[in-house]
Amino acid sequence: MLVIHENYSLKKLNTFRVEAYARWYVEVNTEDDLKELFADLRWQNQNRLILGGGSNMLFTTNFDGLVIRMNIQGIEHQITKDEVYVKSGAGEVWNNLVDYCVQSGFSGMENLSLIPGSVGASPVQNIGAYGVELKDVFYSCHAFEIETGLIKIFDKSDCQFSYRDSVFKTGFKNKYIITEVTYKLSQIFIPNTSYGAIQQELDKRGIIHPTVKNISQVVSFIRVSKLPDPSAIGNAGSFFKNPIIEVNKFRQLESTFPDIVHYPASEGYIKISAGWLIEQCGWKGKIIGNVGTWKNQALVLVNHGNATGNELFKLSIIIIEDVKKRFGIILQREVNII
Ligand code: FAD
Ligand code: EPU
Repeated sequence: MLVIHENYSLKKLNTFRVEAYARWYVEVNTEDDLKELFADLRWQNQNRLILGGGSNMLFTTNFDGLVIRMNIQGIEHQITKDEVYVKSGAGEVWNNLVDYCVQSGFSGMENLSLIPGSVGASPVQNIGAYGVELKDVFYSCHAFEIETGLIKIFDKSDCQFSYRDSVFKTGFKNKYIITEVTYKLSQIFIPNTSYGAIQQELDKRGIIHPTVKNISQVVSFIRVSKLPDPSAIGNAGSFFKNPIIEVNKFRQLESTFPDIVHYPASEGYIKISAGWLIEQCGWKGKIIGNVGTWKNQALVLVNHGNATGNELFKLSIIIIEDVKKRFGIILQREVNII
């Protein structure tokens, strides 16, 4: 039975822990719940917000519409020779799914250990960390089409994945609700230690032939050392994307800032570390009132107490201005601003 709540507090449902109220709020446990919900035409024409774990959102205001919290559960897998297809409900906690795979010895997701949030959001921004992106393990997803009430199946090419982006953030934003995701993993393990810090940590621990579990543990260890725990201090991970600029522009910058931290991107482009740019502007670990940037990672904006979404948003504006003045680069927000 669907229960629609009115004027519902979202403070405990976003990892920035800022207060915001939903005009209406509903939890969805099955695909049929979505069909039932949208059979009532009043919700077709309402503002809508799909909510998973609220770990990539900043509420700067109350939400004057219907918030739909995805709670569809269930994980199962099917083994075909060396390949494993793992299917999960959108409402499962992402890291519980990673643990399920790691404990079962299925490889592919271990570098994505400890990312907060839900399974259903994982394709939305093509989550990525430590040398792996979701697109590397994604097989297909089911998505509820709001306009027709039908479930559509998206394969990898339909999703148009790129760095922190997919069709669900662009052309199909607010048109589809992801209900279930299937991942293609492997029983043959080839460790991905391309991200330098992983190899360094394995060396420190004297691990020469890492297992899936070893990689998951090492990635989790590195993450905890760099990133604030949202249950203790409000944050949404990287607030900005790492900017991708043309090689020519990069060469000019490099001549003035030879230490600029950068990575290869697609042909003709270079990815710059936004954390480095922000740190160079003197922002790392700075606190202004209730808000600031994290002491170990300048790319992460934090709520030091009772910050409002607007205080955090204003801080992001000042940081964007400072980085632009110094480097001529305009940072783009990764976090969804509501
Ligand atoms: P939400 O914040 O609830 O929603 C995010 C967006 O997806 C919204 O636009 C929402 O409408 C949409 N959405 C959610 N569920 C669905 C659905 N079922 N169907 C359609 N649309 C939906 N991200 C990374 O990529 N890599 C990292 O390493 C990383 N590290 C992080 C570390 C910390 C400490 C924190 C707090 C965040 C980090 N993030 C990282 C960001 C965040 O964890 C991911 O973006 C995650 O996928 C968000 O999941 P969520 O369920 O909380 O999504
Ligand atoms: N750096 C600084 N100062 C800082 C932060 C970083 O100089 O304050 C430089 C350092 O040289 C550091 C390098 O940047 O070695 C890379 O830092 P880190 O390994 O923390 O990675 P990142 O590029 O800052 C990205 C993702 C993270 C992801 C990590 C690991 C984005 C926007 N962020 O951060 O994702 O966990 O790589 O792969 O791409 C997120 O999306 O929320 C997120 C946390």
